[in-house]
Amino acid sequence: MRIVVLVSGTGSNLQSVIDAVASKQLADVEIAAVGADKHGTYGVERSEAAGIETFVVNFKDYEDRGEWNHALTQKCQSYQPDYVVSSGFMRIVGEEFINAFDGTYINTHPALLPSFPGAHGVRDALAYGVKVTGCTVHIADAGVDTGPILRQESVAVLDEDTEETLHERIKVVERRLLIATLGDLARNK
Ligand code: GAR
Repeated sequence: MRIVVLVSGTGSNLQSVIDAVASKQLADVEIAAVGADKHGTYGVERSEAAGIETFVVNFKDYEDRGEWNHALTQKCQSYQPDYVVSSGFMRIVGEEFINAFDGTYINTHPALLPSFPGAHGVRDALAYGVKVTGCTVHIADAGVDTGPILRQESVAVLDEDTEETLHERIKVVERRLLIATLGDLARNK
């Protein structure tokens, strides 16, 4: 199963996928490429260190979102992936991308969707005062963090939690769910 992984930041979840592929835990998964929406992400650096092909479709280089979305779609398609995985990719993709990867665009989110979608899922859950939050791996559709849920798991919120401590605990679970989901998809291919 060939995947393209999209990142915008540190790519710690991506690193766990890289490790799972290397250790043969995900023996049937090949990371064809890792792409980012801006230069200088640690996620791309990690991938280069692992010898994985990388690309940047820099949002700021395009006149409008549609042109950027078109370039991203074409670049991802050039790798002929079975799935595209958003692993901390913080840009909303447009209809052209969603249509090109209909049902094969996977997203992870640090909250129990449909609660707390968007860029600040952990912060918003803390601010609301929920006692339980979690993470979700789902097939992404044209909405913001919407689409059929594949796996989901809860994480307790502690009284002393900050956004950082809670996000770190969520990510530990998120990595496990992402790897399990990719394993499922590879087996069912
Ligand atoms: C992850 O928790 C991911 O779910 C979240 O960004 C983090 C990326 O961490 N994505 C979203 O919030 C998307 N709405 P990482 O770069 O260390 O893997």
